[in-house]
Amino acid sequence: VSLKPYNTFALEGAARWFAEARTDAEVDEAIALARALGVPLLPLGGGSNLLLTGDVPALVLRMGSRGTRRVAEQGPQVIVEAEAGEPWHPFVSGCLASGLYGLENLSLIPGTVGAAPIQNIGAYGVEIKDRFAGLDALDLHTGERRSFDAPACAFGYRDSRFKRELGRWLILRVRFALRRTPEVTLDYGPIRQRLAEEGITRPRPEDVSRVICALRTEKLPDPAVLPNAGSFFKNPVVTGDQARALASRCPDLVAYSQADGRSKLAAGWLIERAGWKGFREGDAGVHGSQALVLVNHGQATGEQVMSLAKRIQADVSERFGVVLEMEPVLL
Ligand code: EPU
Repeated sequence: VSLKPYNTFALEGAARWFAEARTDAEVDEAIALARALGVPLLPLGGGSNLLLTGDVPALVLRMGSRGTRRVAEQGPQVIVEAEAGEPWHPFVSGCLASGLYGLENLSLIPGTVGAAPIQNIGAYGVEIKDRFAGLDALDLHTGERRSFDAPACAFGYRDSRFKRELGRWLILRVRFALRRTPEVTLDYGPIRQRLAEEGITRPRPEDVSRVICALRTEKLPDPAVLPNAGSFFKNPVVTGDQARALASRCPDLVAYSQADGRSKLAAGWLIERAGWKGFREGDAGVHGSQALVLVNHGQATGEQVMSLAKRIQADVSERFGVVLEMEPVLL
């Protein structure tokens, strides 16, 4: 089965076997089938954080489970549970429409609920770990079901235990701690600016969501139009000394100081400054309005995207002494 329709980079690659599971029972069936076939099981969500570089010798299991429910209420806090296959943005919009707040900064992120904790999705000052209440997963090594709280997930920047132990866990459903009171997170400057331009002085979560959708639509390519997997590299974290040395050389360097004294640099800035923004080699390219996003102009292969990524990494490392780490999962 071609995986091209199942990855937002629209890269070619065939799954040896392919199935979709809508219920826990269908997940169990797929696990039994993979065992009988003697191939690994590879869970797939929205395919929006994948770089396929060839055929996949596995049973690819697309998670198609649906459903959202309130599982507990404690004062202003509501715990909402959603099935892994729920598409992320409609889930966020549904929460907002029911007056459950906290996920609005994560509006319009592609992918599914089940994939969201794997890379601890984050945007505009909020990460999933900040709203996380728990998840249920299957250990594909032992077949056991297990619940995880936040510490057990070992969340980090675009990272978690599930990303580090890729292939071991299949996430079934995720719980979020949301609020009935509309508090908003406005750490990200361009959002405050956009709201101020609209004359909104006391923004509601709905306003934040709308402004974020507008910002994302302006800057990030729509995978349905120009296939991509979002940010291709992580923003690199360097020592305070290294950041100061770079800033004295490039006064407009974009850097955010971290609590531990280190600095997170904007990889998009480094790549743009190195001259790659809008670059194209065959059908693999660098997006013209956000240099952190690599795009497929049509028929690019995963190898071509990787080779472009390696040239960018080498160039950024040579110019700035900073190593860019790839963000999507390489298959
Ligand atoms: N910048 C440039 N040139 C570029 C791109 C960015 O100079 O081509 C500068 C911007 O001007 C800005 C800074 O870099 O000063 C940061 O840019 P932006 O706010 O667009 O965010 P980012 O750091 O490039 C990260 C996340 C995004 C997330 C945004 C907003 C990572 C790897 N990416 O991007 O997440 O939406 O912040 O919070 O952390 C994703 O993971 O796929 C993703 C899109």
